[in-house]
Amino acid sequence: MSAPTAGLVLEGIDFAYGGARALNGVSLSVPPASIVALLGSNGAGKSTTAKVIAGALRPVRGTIVFDGQSIAGLPSHQVMRRGVVLVPEGRLVFAQMTIQDNLMMGAYKENRRSRVAALLEQNYTTFPRLKERRHQLAGSLSGGEQQMLAIARGLMAEPRLLVLDEPSLGIMPKLVQEIFVLIRRIVDNGMSILLIEQNARASLELAGYAYVLEKGQIILQGEGRQLLADEFVQNAYLGTDT
Ligand SMILES: Nc1ncnc2c1ncn2[C@@H]1O[C@H](COP(=O)(O)OP(=O)(O)OP(=O)(O)O)[C@@H](O)[C@H]1O
Ligand SMILES: [Mg+2]
Repeated sequence: MSAPTAGLVLEGIDFAYGGARALNGVSLSVPPASIVALLGSNGAGKSTTAKVIAGALRPVRGTIVFDGQSIAGLPSHQVMRRGVVLVPEGRLVFAQMTIQDNLMMGAYKENRRSRVAALLEQNYTTFPRLKERRHQLAGSLSGGEQQMLAIARGLMAEPRLLVLDEPSLGIMPKLVQEIFVLIRRIVDNGMSILLIEQNARASLELAGYAYVLEKGQIILQGEGRQLLADEFVQNAYLGTDT
């Protein structure tokens, strides 16, 4: 794989729900071992972008290349096999299954039991509170803990790119900090992250590069720190942040 095409590159992505245009020429890239943030108001098209990347939605136009190979239009299980894993909005854990069984589901593509056990152990080291409660039903976890479970389940698939759709939504600031520390650590291990967040300040502090999406179009992009200092971004996205 040649260096210039490594990572994820979206170019000119259009998507519409029926007649309603949701993405209009979206181009963005996530280099290897980096954190890229995607910000935008409610309804801007962030989750739609995530779903298009993950193969849950098929773009009308545009290209999606991951590590030099086109993944546009591939079904989601094939996109996952190539190493792109989406942790969707809204902590979708299986409430009636134990924490451990939820994690095992994440390793669906791995059939070597020893490898699955090693992945489990790795996640339990990262998320000690999931280990303590591994035999409890996932539905008994708090919202923040369920979000951690959702991320851990994504990691069980050994992604090379993890797309996190609002991992901090509805979570108390202390847990958000914990989740963001984890995200940092994941990237230090060589994975890359596309971080979709409403918590603009925290994600801009974390991200090397960031894009702002509004009404299906990228209206602004730049280094995280540069956007933090941007007057428009401050007024539009940082006003009520803590
Ligand atoms: N299944 C759907 N059918 C029709 N329209 C949809 C569907 N899902 C999303 N939309 C519309 O597409 C646009 C983009 O939605 P999307 O969920 O991508 O926004 P978002 O940026 O993730 O917003 P939020 O911050 O609220 O999660 C919105 O106008 C939304 O109403
Ligand atoms: Mg969304």
